[in-house]
Order: sequence, then C-alpha cells, then structure tokens
Amino acid sequence: MEIVILPTPADVARKAADAIEQQVRRGPSVLGLATGSTPLGTYEELIARHRDGGLSFGQTQAFLLDEYVGLPTEHPQSYHSVIRDEFTASVDFAADAVHGLNGMATDPEAEAAQYDAAIAAAGGVDIQILGIGTDGHVGFNEPMSSLASRTRIKTLTQQTKEDNARFFDSIDDVPDHVLTQGLGTIRQARHLLLLAMGESKAEAIAAAVEGPLAALCPASVLQLHPHVTVLVDEAAASKLTHQDYYRDTFGRKPEWQGL
Ligand code: PGA
Repeated sequence: MEIVILPTPADVARKAADAIEQQVRRGPSVLGLATGSTPLGTYEELIARHRDGGLSFGQTQAFLLDEYVGLPTEHPQSYHSVIRDEFTASVDFAADAVHGLNGMATDPEAEAAQYDAAIAAAGGVDIQILGIGTDGHVGFNEPMSSLASRTRIKTLTQQTKEDNARFFDSIDDVPDHVLTQGLGTIRQARHLLLLAMGESKAEAIAAAVEGPLAALCPASVLQLHPHVTVLVDEAAASKLTHQDYYRDTFGRKPEWQGL
C-alpha cells in the first residue's frame, strides 16, 4: 500500500484526478466509480479537465460500486442518479458506457451475478475509486463481510444508515438493503484508489492501513492487493502511527508503481 498524506481535501481530489486522467489518456479504460461525498472533489476536477483540457471519456466504461435496493433508477438518491448528476452527465461518456446495479431487480442474486460477469466481460476494472465508511466499509461491505465476497445483497448497519441519513428527508427513508460489489470483486480491479478526508475517517483509515486483516474492518482486505494508493488529508491521516515513514518514503520505494 502506498500512503500519500496531503495537506487538504483539494489536494486529495487533484491527485486522484491525476491518476484517473493518466489512465483514461492511456486508451480505452474501465473505471470503477464510487458515490458518497468523498469523490465529489475528484469528479469536479475531472469535469474541469474535460471542459478546459480536452480530457475525453469517450473510450471509457464505468461501473458503479453499489446501489440501494428498492429505489427506482429515477429516484434522486439512487446511485444511478447521483453519479449522473455529480459526474457522468457533465463529461462525454457514451450513452451505454456507465453501468450500475438495478436496485429494483426482482431477482437480486441474478442481478449481482450478471454484474460481476459484465465487469469481467469489459476486461475488468483498471482503476477503482473507493471511499471508506466510518465503520471501515468499502462499497457497502459492512463489518463482518466475507473478505472473498462477490457482488450481492447486504443489510446496512445502523451506523451507515445514520451516516447516510443526510441525503434523505429522514433516517427512516434510508433503505435497509443494498446491492454492492463484493470485497473479492473489488480486489480484482488492477489499481485501487482509496480516498479519505476529515477526522471522522481517521480511525477507519488507521484500522484499514495499520490494523490486522479482519472482517471487522472490511477495508483492511486492501492490504492483500498489489497496487493500492491511499490518498488522505492530514485529518484523515491523524491516527496513523507511521506517518513519518509514509511521508519520508512516498514515491521513493523500489516497488513504487506510480499513482
Ligand atoms: P462518504 O461515504 O464518501 O459519503 O463519506 C463513504 C462510504 O460510505 O464509503
């Protein structure tokens, strides 16, 4: 894991956008997109680079990490709607290039299996953006998720419902169930980009990066991946024990693979 501690959330967004731009400019690409507040600055940065710098997503496909069960696609808080409004409609993805899970599927198991198959058929994800929950989840893989899990239906913890209540009129409107890429699915992406900002994420980041590999902190499974970049601001880094090491060695280790 490469831990990159940056002064501000804006720096995190710029570095994440750099990594994605580099990938997209390389040729036809598959991006893994996350929703939530964390990647919003990255998406703004990419939209600006599309508008002002000619960055094109015309050869790029995208797969969303997760979706609420029971929200129709057109619901403003469905992740279909959120990613369209926050990012994909403001750049030049082809009409059928952005893929998400159908939260209204009558057979969620079949929907999940088809989704994993579609990711594989696209050649797998080149670069996957990830946020982290205050409980250490990635995607909606809540604590005690199988570290080998595939895309499937999950039940949200009370903490995640409370964290996400800000997007709904009340916590009672937050769906109980979600479809999410599994930890095993996420780990197949070739490069994982985990972003975190703010003190509320400091404990989860410390557990994910320095804690034991444990289902109690699903993000700790990233320790098994050969190419992970963790971009954090000072506040999210504040509970890491080995901050000096990360600062001293950033980009200098022989195994450095670049962002
Ligand atoms: P946030 O959520 O980006 O809205 O903080 C991250 C997550 O729950 O994975």
